[in-house]
Amino acid sequence: MKAYVDKETCIGCALCPTISPDIFSMEDDGKAVAIDDQIPEDVVADAQDAEEQCPVAAITVD
Ligand code: F3S
Repeated sequence: MKAYVDKETCIGCALCPTISPDIFSMEDDGKAVAIDDQIPEDVVADAQDAEEQCPVAAITVD
């Protein structure tokens, strides 16, 4: 599985790196970014949590 952040939609609330720090981080532009690699099996649930809880639905995990 991979994770993506739609930077146009992200409002920089910083919730995703709090929920799933292995996958998401904040960039200098104040928006979140997801790692480029496949999501490790043991943190898929965290990444999906972040996807569900992002207030503007900017995250896709598939
Ligand atoms: Fe942005 Fe949503 Fe994360 S608003 S910082 S992608 S939780």
